[in-house]
Amino acid sequence: MSKALIFGATSGIGLAIAKRLVDKYDVTGVGRDISKVSGEKIDLLSCDVSDNKALQKLLKDIPCPDVLILSQGSAYYGLHENIKPSECEEMVLTDLLSPITITNHFLNQMKQRKSGHIIFISSVTADSVNPHGACYGACKAGIRSFAKSLFEEIRKTGVKVTLISPDLTYTDLYRNADFGVDKDLVLSPEDVADAVSFVLEKPSNVDVFDIVVRPMRNAIVK
Ligand SMILES: NC(=O)c1ccc[n+]([C@@H]2O[C@H](COP(=O)([O-])OP(=O)(O)OC[C@H]3O[C@@H](n4cnc5c(N)ncnc54)[C@H](OP(=O)(O)O)[C@@H]3O)[C@@H](O)[C@H]2O)c1
Repeated sequence: MSKALIFGATSGIGLAIAKRLVDKYDVTGVGRDISKVSGEKIDLLSCDVSDNKALQKLLKDIPCPDVLILSQGSAYYGLHENIKPSECEEMVLTDLLSPITITNHFLNQMKQRKSGHIIFISSVTADSVNPHGACYGACKAGIRSFAKSLFEEIRKTGVKVTLISPDLTYTDLYRNADFGVDKDLVLSPEDVADAVSFVLEKPSNVDVFDIVVRPMRNAIVK
């Protein structure tokens, strides 16, 4: 069976993707608190990816996957002067540096095999202005830029790159925010998993690079 490695697999979008893929892939999932997931056919590994040394150590023990999904993320919202430096650091390390580091680790092996698929879970914030989410949006814009460059760099090697940008999705991401999202009016994590299934079903000569997933309505709850 092909192998899928999913970062951010302990909740929300990453967990929905992991559940979607278990019938077709050997799924390994990474997150800090793996006790949140039970009863799934997912091989779970605990790691704080904002700790770059711990991340590098973890990567050494993981075989190169056929599908790599980078869905880890943390977010803090508010006026930028009210976001703590430690929160900015956490977002930059988790949302921007860790996907770049993980890609860097596996890329050479994927290129040698002439196959592999790297899927970044970015956000619609990558392309918008984000008052009250300036640092988070900057990290997502960074990943968008990275993925676009990576695609051009490796498109002739057989390794695919996909950038999936969801709009508001009902997950734990907003636990540090002073607002919530209306479950009935935003995307579900399964809606984003649908996009992943869609891109993985394409033939080897086709790369669906850029997908934006939006709900027909959208609602923040204050
Ligand atoms: N929800 C939305 O509206 C939305 C919209 C657009 C894009 N996104 C993106 O979708 C991705 C998934 O987020 P989500 O909405 O599903 O939120 P979520 O439910 O909070 O999931 C975040 C995942 O990342 C993991 N994670 C966070 N910090 C980590 C760290 N330091 N080390 C290892 N794992 C860490 C979490 O696991 P642990 O807590 O167990 O470590 C969890 O599995 C993120 O990249 C987010 O930016 C979300």
